[in-house]
Amino acid sequence: MLDTKVLQDYIRTIPDFPHEGIMFRDVTTLFQDPRGFRLAIDQLLAPFVGQRIDMVAGLEARGFILGGAVAHQLSKGFVPIRKEGKLPAATIEQEYALEYGRATVEIHDDALKPGDKVLLVDDLLATGGTAEAGIKLIERLGAEVVGCAFVVDLPEIGGRQKLEAMGMAVHALCH
Ligand code: PRP
Ligand code: ADE
Repeated sequence: MLDTKVLQDYIRTIPDFPHEGIMFRDVTTLFQDPRGFRLAIDQLLAPFVGQRIDMVAGLEARGFILGGAVAHQLSKGFVPIRKEGKLPAATIEQEYALEYGRATVEIHDDALKPGDKVLLVDDLLATGGTAEAGIKLIERLGAEVVGCAFVVDLPEIGGRQKLEAMGMAVHALCH
């Protein structure tokens, strides 16, 4: 039978997770479907094909799954941006506000070279706080973010405007 599912159909919504009032967009159902996962990876990198990209960076945790696959497809390296205390070598850190709470992310201080062109990947854009912190870490190492790619954008929360106001190219597969 012809599979007519579009990318959005692979994502499920869990009400009141992790807190009451949050409609959690769960991409694990996208990842576990071979066609859905390939669709996501192909579509995430499509606008950046032909552009110089030296490295793919992914935001913990689901940005690792997506970013690793994007990096493999582009035959580039992958850099993890992790929650604090997880990376073993010397890091720089950046604090940020979440839709629910505050957190700190870190990057190894030798993960990127000045001038590197970096594609930043995550599953979801809400307030943009996580991505903004990731961008700041990348830029503090002297590298340049060529674009930010997300599976889901929650436009009513304003993350896209925040990143675009920073001059970022924002690519999202669904809303
Ligand atoms: C989610 C999501 C993004 C971030 C987006 O991760 O995977 O990384 O929130 O929100 P923002 O645009 O408002 O910053 P979360 O912080 O829940 O952490 P997790 O990946 O460890 O579950
Ligand atoms: N991160 C922030 N808001 C989220 C949401 N609604 N679903 C999944 N991840 C999120």
